[in-house]
Amino acid sequence: MNFKTLELSDNKLIWIDQTRLPMELVYKTSDNLDEMINAIKQLEVRGAPAIGIAAAYALAITVSKSKKIKDSLIKKIADELKASRPTAVNLFWAVDRMIEKYNNVKSASENEIVDTLFAEAIAIHDEDAKMCQAIGLHGSELINDGDTILTHCNAGALATGGIGTALAVIYTCKEQGKNIKVYADETRPLLQGARLTAWELQQNGIDVTLITDNTAGMLMRQGKINHVIVGADRVTNRGDVANKIGTYSVAVLAKENNIPFYVALPESTYDRTLESGDEIIIEERSPLEVTKGFGNQTAPNDIKVYSPAFDITPAEYISYYITDKGLTKGTRV
Ligand code: MRU
Repeated sequence: MNFKTLELSDNKLIWIDQTRLPMELVYKTSDNLDEMINAIKQLEVRGAPAIGIAAAYALAITVSKSKKIKDSLIKKIADELKASRPTAVNLFWAVDRMIEKYNNVKSASENEIVDTLFAEAIAIHDEDAKMCQAIGLHGSELINDGDTILTHCNAGALATGGIGTALAVIYTCKEQGKNIKVYADETRPLLQGARLTAWELQQNGIDVTLITDNTAGMLMRQGKINHVIVGADRVTNRGDVANKIGTYSVAVLAKENNIPFYVALPESTYDRTLESGDEIIIEERSPLEVTKGFGNQTAPNDIKVYSPAFDITPAEYISYYITDKGLTKGTRV
């Protein structure tokens, strides 16, 4: 990759402001908790694993700047971070892991606590990068030379601490010398597919074609798609998947057209406390992202808008889960 999505430098967090892509590659730097939380809320940093990593760094950085480290401070920082976005479980997983680490060392000196928290945040980041590599390798077993893959939203390097989840499979296939083609759904309303997936695949020399979301069905019917691969924000015990709004529609189309549908995810995206996808809290976004996305007003004043950021794809639509541990057969094999 010729960019770094997230980096810790000089006890500050550096991130790509993804709202500026693809026109500008702009890095932002901060050690201010509100600014880091705002970056997550505004989707400057986005994608389930990347949100978790950023939150872990934000917690360590904020504690390192505090005069007195105590339980109530850790709780306050953790609560504020967890309130930034509700759906991706990786955020909660990473913050809870940081709290657990703090509880293990809280009787040590303040310097030791800070060092331990930084080390844990770096470990979360490094482990995610390794999980991405493993996901890529396992997923590549499903893909043949000459295949065409459809993906939705961005589950790439911009969304993780490594080479991505869904896109890791694509990068790995390319490394293996497989000749593959990708269709990227543009992903209304925030265009993660058009702005981010198309950009990062193009940067990395992948043959990618951008399509509007409503083109996917026609391509499937024409036999032009061999596989669909998407990422995930939270996966329940029974295998239901929360992912970017529109994923469910793609999964239904894939089933109707007999095209295998894969979900790529690291272990940190499983929520073992939930059975059904109906229990997952779905974030709702501002109407303005629909009516005036990227500056141009495209709907009447005062129109009612409903804009869920994610949807649930029931396990019945999934052929394989591609995780860092290997391939798990879904209900729809
Ligand atoms: O709202 P976003 O851009 O954070 O949504 C991202 C997605 O839905 C991704 O598919 C998911 O987080 C997986 S990223 C590896």
